[in-house]
Amino acid sequence: MKNKEVQMLNRLRAAYLDGTAGVADYWQSDDELDVYDRSFARRIGWKWLYVLRELDRIGWQPPKGNAITDWGCGSGVASRTIIEHFGDNYFSELRLFDRSLRATAFAASKAVKSFPQLLVKAADSPDFDGGIAVVSHVITELMPQQIKALVEHLRRADVILWTEPGTYAASRALISVRELLRSEYNVIAPCTHSVVCGMTSPVNKRHWCHFFAKSPPEAYTEREWTQFAEKLGIDLSDLPLSYLVLDKNRRGYNFPPDTARIIARPHVTARDAIVLGCSPSGVSERIAYKSRLPDAWRTFKKGEFDSLIRWVINGREITDIDGL
Ligand SMILES: C[S@@+](CC[C@H](N)C(=O)[O-])C[C@H]1O[C@@H](n2cnc3c(N)ncnc32)[C@H](O)[C@@H]1O
Repeated sequence: MKNKEVQMLNRLRAAYLDGTAGVADYWQSDDELDVYDRSFARRIGWKWLYVLRELDRIGWQPPKGNAITDWGCGSGVASRTIIEHFGDNYFSELRLFDRSLRATAFAASKAVKSFPQLLVKAADSPDFDGGIAVVSHVITELMPQQIKALVEHLRRADVILWTEPGTYAASRALISVRELLRSEYNVIAPCTHSVVCGMTSPVNKRHWCHFFAKSPPEAYTEREWTQFAEKLGIDLSDLPLSYLVLDKNRRGYNFPPDTARIIARPHVTARDAIVLGCSPSGVSERIAYKSRLPDAWRTFKKGEFDSLIRWVINGREITDIDGL
């Protein structure tokens, strides 16, 4: 990775972290979009692969033959990852929208190269018109009134796929979006229910809804990734994300009533694990004792647990736990 590229990434990262990215179009060149696409965007792609795997396992797919619109597309990694997953004949067309025309043009040329069969359009207005809406890593660049305006546009989409960095602010903003839209959509994931989000309870103020995707092996073996991690001081093993999938017309997986979604990572000590679990009755911390549930405790300790579980609760304790 060249010094000039590192400088570009540092400039972008500084704008994302200090909250100035939303102020104006920050894409200064195609080279900048290119290095973003080879670095930050690939990490975002890995988060999308996590989301797509979660959707596969609950047997949900977007309806076939519809347009897919990537709002705030940047270099277009989110829609490209989704189209690669379902196949380029799955969608009728790809529409790319960004306040940056440079970004839209870049994303369009990448998509045309990747999917020569697919109709790719640079959209000049964010109109969803049925179809599938994709939003990725944009929420922290929007003012609350811009999020509300985006939600108004999104209401026209049949399906919404939205992924954000798993920070407190991004997750909380996404929860607000969920609450604005849940009466009109079936909540497909990560929630196992469509009732009010348990995170909105004042007792859960300090928590946020997030998960961790894994980086693939190349993140540890490819020279460019080692340099990226070293020069930018970014830990590649940690890929926190928050996400939301909504479908207007089709219901999601019919979860058994004892299903819970484990949020983030349990806090593990030598004798127990504190698990933040979400179910239709709310979000609450439960305790799994190593003595009673040694196998589950071990998976929590290793960080290799399934976030979807079936559990038996007695007071605060999880007395039994099983896969879905
Ligand atoms: C961090 S980038 C993410 C790009 C891409 N979605 C991804 O996941 O890699 C945020 C993108 O949102 C765009 N953006 C920010 N504010 C916007 C707005 N008000 N309207 C449309 N696009 C906006 C930026 O130009 C930028 O391309």
